[in-house]
Amino acid sequence: MQHRIALLGFGTVGQGLCEIFRDKRDELATQYGFEPIVVAVSDLRMGTVVSDSGLDVNRLLDLAAAGTSLEEYPGDVRRGGDALSTLANCNADSMCELTFTDVKTGEPATSHVRAALQAGMNVVTSNKGPAALFYRELEQLAREKGVRFGIEGTVMSGTPVLNLARLNLAGNRITAARGILNGTTNYMLSEMEAGKSYDEALATAQKLGYAEADPTADVDGLDALAKVTILANVLMGENLRPSDIPCEGIRGITPEDIEAARADGKRYKLLGEVRREGSKVTARVAPMQVELNHPLAGVMGATNAVTFSCDLLGDVTVNGPGAGRTETGYSLLVDLLEIHREMLSRGEALA
Ligand code: HSE
Repeated sequence: MQHRIALLGFGTVGQGLCEIFRDKRDELATQYGFEPIVVAVSDLRMGTVVSDSGLDVNRLLDLAAAGTSLEEYPGDVRRGGDALSTLANCNADSMCELTFTDVKTGEPATSHVRAALQAGMNVVTSNKGPAALFYRELEQLAREKGVRFGIEGTVMSGTPVLNLARLNLAGNRITAARGILNGTTNYMLSEMEAGKSYDEALATAQKLGYAEADPTADVDGLDALAKVTILANVLMGENLRPSDIPCEGIRGITPEDIEAARADGKRYKLLGEVRREGSKVTARVAPMQVELNHPLAGVMGATNAVTFSCDLLGDVTVNGPGAGRTETGYSLLVDLLEIHREMLSRGEALA
């Protein structure tokens, strides 16, 4: 059954998602009855193209690879306009919000999400801005409109975290979630432990493309802070803002600190933590020393991990990628598949 999709933003993640649609077309249709039809793409840099009957993802990917405007797409399609006018003028069932992340204002992504939900579209996103700043409001709006606001990709890309807690840990009381939520800083700390200076470790992280465009978001803990805010709000029902949560990055960690921790049988990790004690929820981001026999201590390089403390299961740790073209593209797919399953069960998807 067809599922009509609008993409706002066609950078790495949007292209990664379209590559999955291209490469797994048969498998998705056979196994999940999911036939994604991209009906609109709007990108600030590459332009806008809309077709109610669907665009060819190969053609879209070729245009992006060639650095050509999407408006060069041939044939009888609509061209031009911005993200909001695209939403108003397309027939999508679901919108993927993939524009740039701004965790200070959440814009322009939050306006895109609001407009899509208001129009009765499901929204899936890996953009941390709207989720970290306005999760309660947007989730409530989605409920009122009978659609879904899927944000799995905002924490640890496609590695299951939010859906794992919601679906597979259901029935547990989660009393804490503690994790390595930023790959760049975990990579840097691993390199520093291997003998590199802070500056050398940062330079390599930048060369490998791990660091965000502005590395301060990584090294000062702000990227992890956005994710901790999301964990607090989604897992623990809070309504926190990043500014409510104490946050310290890794700039102050010296090779001597790392050596002293090692001598003590411990290892420094930049951890994001949310903890429930009675009715009180506390959260923080800070470099912390972890015992070497804790599962988080063995997570090295750019890998992410989170340990959930559950009343029925005890500690459950999941580790995996926290970023990447295909990995983050996949995070959108997994939310879309869940939405599609619900649409199929309600008999809503197009025959
Ligand atoms: N720059 C982030 C990291 C990835 O290093 O983990 C996206 O949040």
